[in-house]
Amino acid sequence: MIVCSCNVLSDRDVRSAVEAERTRSTSRVYGCLGCSAKCGRCARTIRRIMDEALGGALPPATAGAQSSQP
Ligand code: FES
Repeated sequence: MIVCSCNVLSDRDVRSAVEAERTRSTSRVYGCLGCSAKCGRCARTIRRIMDEALGGALPPATAGAQSSQP
């Protein structure tokens, strides 16, 4: 399903980018997919996909601290 009509991004595209980048930044998701936000209408949907993909993952600041562990 297309979730961003401006950039023609599907939910699969977004989920793949979120899982690859392990990010909760919408701008990083767009960047990973070679585009940028235009109208912004899809931002809420992209955030929901992030929440689904990352589940109970910690917020970026805490996750960064976690990634420094061996
Ligand atoms: S629908 Fe995604 S930027 Fe417009």
